[in-house]
Amino acid sequence: MRSIDEAVQQAMKVQGRIHRIELEALAKYARMVPTNGLILEVGSLFGKSTIALALSTEALVVAVDNFSDTLDPKHPPSLVSLSANLTTAGCENVLIWRCDSAKAVKCWHWDIHTLFVDGCHEYEYARNDIFGFGKWTTDVIMVHDSHFPGVRKAIREFLQRPSGWKWVGKADSLAIMRRQ
Ligand SMILES: C[S@@+](CC[C@H](N)C(=O)[O-])C[C@H]1O[C@@H](n2cnc3c(N)ncnc32)[C@H](O)[C@@H]1O
Repeated sequence: MRSIDEAVQQAMKVQGRIHRIELEALAKYARMVPTNGLILEVGSLFGKSTIALALSTEALVVAVDNFSDTLDPKHPPSLVSLSANLTTAGCENVLIWRCDSAKAVKCWHWDIHTLFVDGCHEYEYARNDIFGFGKWTTDVIMVHDSHFPGVRKAIREFLQRPSGWKWVGKADSLAIMRRQ
């Protein structure tokens, strides 16, 4: 397991859509996951957030992405570029699952210690990811881009239910919730 600084430095070498302060928070919470726990990430793109998570834990990180993003049309994200970035960063504990998260949630049946959601930011998708994977999550949920209206609405609805989940705070746009 690397230090937070080392994990974030490696992650910062990869292009992506997440800020340093958010990577630091991901790394901090990933360090709390026990070796036999599991981290699920929805939305890996080129692996920036995946690297910060994976280098900060010895637990398995499952990375779900349908590779629909077109951050750079000349260099679209793909299973190959994500795998290459993870290998270069020295991540050996990541399982990439190329799948739409709406499909993935239907066959998911494993406990998740820490969930990180950064897939499609439309309300239906954000709701599906947070509620669908959230029901399997035992400890921490982090949701990126929580200022997007659809994401914000999904988080609000998730917290309004009597489920034991409590708002912890934010690191930039990264919303953090913990189960009581
Ligand atoms: C905002 S980017 C993720 C950024 C990434 N976390 C980083 O550190 O740079 C969103 C990602 O979610 C993926 N995505 C979008 N809709 C999805 C869906 N329905 N199922 C799975 N992945 C999806 C996109 O392919 C893209 O890679």
